[in-house]
Amino acid sequence: MGMKTLHVILLIFLSLFGAFCYSLPLSTRGRWIVDSETGSRVKLTCLNWAAHIDTMVAEGLHTQPIKDIVAKVTLMGFNCIRLTYATFMWTRPDYGNKTVAQSLDSMNLTQAREGIARNNPQLLNLSLQDAYEAVVDAIGANGLMLVLDNHVSKPMWCCASEDGNGFFGDMFFDPKEWVQGLTQVASRFKGKPQSDEFITGGGNELEE
Ligand SMILES: *[C@@H]1O[C@H](CO)[C@@H](O)[C@H](O)[C@H]1NC(C)=O
Ligand SMILES: *[C@@H]1O[C@H](CO)[C@@H](O)[C@H](O)[C@H]1NC(C)=O
Ligand SMILES: *[C@@H]1O[C@H](CO)[C@@H](O)[C@H](O)[C@H]1NC(C)=O
Repeated sequence: MGMKTLHVILLIFLSLFGAFCYSLPLSTRGRWIVDSETGSRVKLTCLNWAAHIDTMVAEGLHTQPIKDIVAKVTLMGFNCIRLTYATFMWTRPDYGNKTVAQSLDSMNLTQAREGIARNNPQLLNLSLQDAYEAVVDAIGANGLMLVLDNHVSKPMWCCASEDGNGFFGDMFFDPKEWVQGLTQVASRFKGKPQSDEFITGGGNELEE
């Protein structure tokens, strides 16, 4: 084993075990996000992962197994992922109840479908909602924190001032439906991970 390899292994070891532990769910103190038990500050270092675009499938799942993607996020030093979603996936049956395969087929994304069949076959016949949950579970299993990010109402590339997703009353932004979507997501995911679990992340704990 060369010196370089040894250094890399040592770095990985340090970044895994030198990390802080957080007790979840996190809490707030004034303007700060804090550990609910110790009260010390927790800094979220999130990577953005898009799942709000037309297919409503988390991007990149056709290229690598989901657990490999999540492991890489951890190794890069992030302690959190911001996973985006579109409201319609939770509020409109014709959006959320499609399977991953059906969603990709409807846009003729043949290569992406084949890629998912190869790299993440367990996701292909799940509904879009269940596939989203599988991504959430994989993120949690790797000890990362998660921000469930309501990015748009109608799934599409964001954001333009004329895209109908911008503000209450815009073409796709019905406030009632928005609240309905937030409620669906909150009730579906509120128990994840179990509240007695502790997770580790690579974030910094800062002094005030
Ligand atoms: C999808 O179907 C299930 C079962 O039929 C239903 O409970 C759920 O509300 C539907 N999802 C949406 C987004 O309408
Ligand atoms: C997919 O391909 C079919 C057949 O070629 C075509 O009719 C349809 O418009 C295509 N759909 C999209 C979203 O490009
Ligand atoms: C998904 O469903 C199709 C038919 O409904 C089936 O042919 C295929 O084997 C299934 N794929 C996986 C990975 O389960």
